[in-house]
Amino acid sequence: MSQQRRRGPMGGHGMQPTEKAKDFKGSMKKLFGYMGRYKFRFILMFIFAVAGTAFNIAGPKILGKATTELFNGLVAKVNGTGGIDFSKIGMILLWTLGLYVASACFSLIQGFVMTGISNDVTYNLRKDISKKINRLPMNYFESRTNGEILSRVTNDVDTLQMSINQSMTQLITSVTTLIGVFIMMLSINVWMTLAAVLILPVSMLIINKVMKHSQKYFQAQQEYLGKVNGQVEENFGGHDVVRVFNKEQDVLKEFEHDNQKLYESAWKSQFFSGMMMPIMQFVGNLGYVMVALLGGLFAIKGTIEVGDIQSFFQYIRNFTQPIQQIAQVTNLLQSSAAASERVFEFLEEPEEELQPENPDSIEELEGNVQFEHVKFGYNPDKIIVNDFSADVHDGQKIAIVGPTGAGKTTIVKLLMRFYDVNGGSIKVDGHDIRNFNRSNLREMFGMVLQDTWLFS
Ligand SMILES: Nc1ncnc2c1ncn2[C@@H]1O[C@H](COP(=O)(O)OP(=O)(O)OP(=O)(O)O)[C@@H](O)[C@H]1O
Ligand SMILES: [Mg+2]
Repeated sequence: MSQQRRRGPMGGHGMQPTEKAKDFKGSMKKLFGYMGRYKFRFILMFIFAVAGTAFNIAGPKILGKATTELFNGLVAKVNGTGGIDFSKIGMILLWTLGLYVASACFSLIQGFVMTGISNDVTYNLRKDISKKINRLPMNYFESRTNGEILSRVTNDVDTLQMSINQSMTQLITSVTTLIGVFIMMLSINVWMTLAAVLILPVSMLIINKVMKHSQKYFQAQQEYLGKVNGQVEENFGGHDVVRVFNKEQDVLKEFEHDNQKLYESAWKSQFFSGMMMPIMQFVGNLGYVMVALLGGLFAIKGTIEVGDIQSFFQYIRNFTQPIQQIAQVTNLLQSSAAASERVFEFLEEPEEELQPENPDSIEELEGNVQFEHVKFGYNPDKIIVNDFSADVHDGQKIAIVGPTGAGKTTIVKLLMRFYDVNGGSIKVDGHDIRNFNRSNLREMFGMVLQDTWLFS
């Protein structure tokens, strides 16, 4: 009990390891194979996503031209050689507005198409699952808990719906942004780009160090959280037992020990993860200073325009964001791979074949049932019914009596072909029940199980 991991009050922390698929590539391949029928819409979505991002990226560069115009105009005014050309600035601003409006429209269409795809995919998945449930052999349901099956239909499909939508969009836009911004930065100035890009390995190194250091505290936090939760549940659940045996003090002491450990690991792990942002910002600001220095130098030399420095700063801001997003998306993809693995596992379960090639008709049967030397075990190594024979005629009332676990229910399940016999045969009016269509066969019988609840 104490080893159980639960999502407690602090359980949802961002650094928790996400659930991983056993076969990431295979599961993703299956998911994409399933989505293959939406190829056309995918391409449409991709084009609009790229276009929306590209238009967005172009914005700062054009806006920078307005600043340059303003700056040059001011300098000219001071020198007495001219003035600010407001009509030109107005044109530039109009262009920028147009760009941003177009970008927003593209993103809107992209979102519309993507939401449609993800909802259609999950709609069809649910439909397939619900069809599949009716074709699965009884064995499948008896060897799993209801909760396990249910979670594939609800949780896993929900996870897929959410992650397909989010991760696809984010992946495309972040990669496009990263590439686009890099190109724009290079087009402005190579040296400043180098300085800006240099921040990346430095901050990655720092993040890596801090992460490695804090990992053990996160693990300890998870472990003690599980322990404390387990203790609380056990001690409250079995409160009278604790009192009867005078164990209050022991229980308290144990709880205090683990609670203390949880306190220590929780605050350390949270301190380290809280430190991350300020450190990142500090490194980022150092980069800014370097870029600003270089920009000033180049501006004095006249090799760069003032507006370009301004756009460059905007690009730096846009550069780190997609990197963080890509990191998030990889997490999302992990959980969607795990969910898709479970859903497709379910969809690929072997089915009950419903139809023999030439099924016997059930018309004009009387209802004589013969069991002939029936041998059966749920597990072929553990035979439960050994050589059972019976001959029941139409109209007879029969009771099968035996101790619990003798196999009474099993015999009825065999008659309904929830399972097939391992040896011998069952016949209805001389027809082997394996020659009937399963649904026809089951139509002939009525069955009330012992765990059926009767309300009156
Ligand atoms: N789905 C299953 N998988 C494996 N073993 C099973 C399964 N269902 C039943 N058994 C085992 O088969 C044996 C016969 O079970 P069955 O349910 O037919 O007994 P029963 O005669 O109906 O008993 P009861 O009087 O308790 O209803 C038991 O040992 C039981 O544990
Ligand atoms: Mg029974």
